[in-house]
Amino acid sequence: MTTIGIIGSGNIGSNVARAAVDHGFEVVISNSRGAQSLDDLVKELGDAAKAGSVEEAISAGELVLVAIPLGSIGNLPVAAFEDKVVMDANNYYPQRDGRIAELDSNESTTSELLQRHLPHSHVVKAFNNIPAKDIPKDGLPAGEENRRALPIAGNDHASKIKVAEFLDVLGYDVLDLGPLSESWRVERDTPAYVKRTTLDELKELTQDVERVQQT
Ligand SMILES: NC(=O)c1ccc[n+]([C@@H]2O[C@H](COP(=O)([O-])OP(=O)(O)OC[C@H]3O[C@@H](n4cnc5c(N)ncnc54)[C@H](OP(=O)(O)O)[C@@H]3O)[C@@H](O)[C@H]2O)c1
Repeated sequence: MTTIGIIGSGNIGSNVARAAVDHGFEVVISNSRGAQSLDDLVKELGDAAKAGSVEEAISAGELVLVAIPLGSIGNLPVAAFEDKVVMDANNYYPQRDGRIAELDSNESTTSELLQRHLPHSHVVKAFNNIPAKDIPKDGLPAGEENRRALPIAGNDHASKIKVAEFLDVLGYDVLDLGPLSESWRVERDTPAYVKRTTLDELKELTQDVERVQQT
């Protein structure tokens, strides 16, 4: 059974965990306060879920989700992520994360910053474009009319395929935006941002989009 390692047990981390166990995955979930703070969540998630340290979640995960505020990614342990496929849910909120010059100037993307911090992992942007509470309830079987589509971006093709397969099992069509440098197309203040779209609608909203200055 595939195990999903989850860093962050807040809105995104807990809801990806719910969707994952509902679809037959095991999860090891972690946060900044330690495993004992996750007793209630793990009880709710059932036998397929365990709480662990950040290192334990990374080590257990065939896919590892990073679902912590962008301003905290510098605290992630670099060596533990070697060769891991990392799903990055981050978005940039300066009021929360502090101002980041490379994002303000559009020289980089949030996922490129994570990839730079974790140079030996394969970062794939995922889950940044859906409100957390929708994740366990919006999935539909493949082929259903009106199936929701989620975007991904990444520099490693094989890793993107693994993430796309995971999203498909959770009930989502997938649009590959290209490399991490293109992930701005679904970041904050873009037309597609957290909008419920089908694959065709998502393609249209992300194609001729203007990259605005971050405010
Ligand atoms: N909320 C949404 O609907 C949504 C949608 C798309 C994307 N996003 C993006 O996804 C990211 C996470 O958002 P969220 O709403 O899930 O945040 P959140 O509810 O505030 O949860 C953040 C989690 O990160 C943990 N954390 C913080 N620093 C950590 C560290 N160094 N090591 C391990 N765990 C750490 C916190 O641990 P403690 O619990 O111990 O404090 C908490 O569990 C953000 O970039 C956000 O913008 C959010």
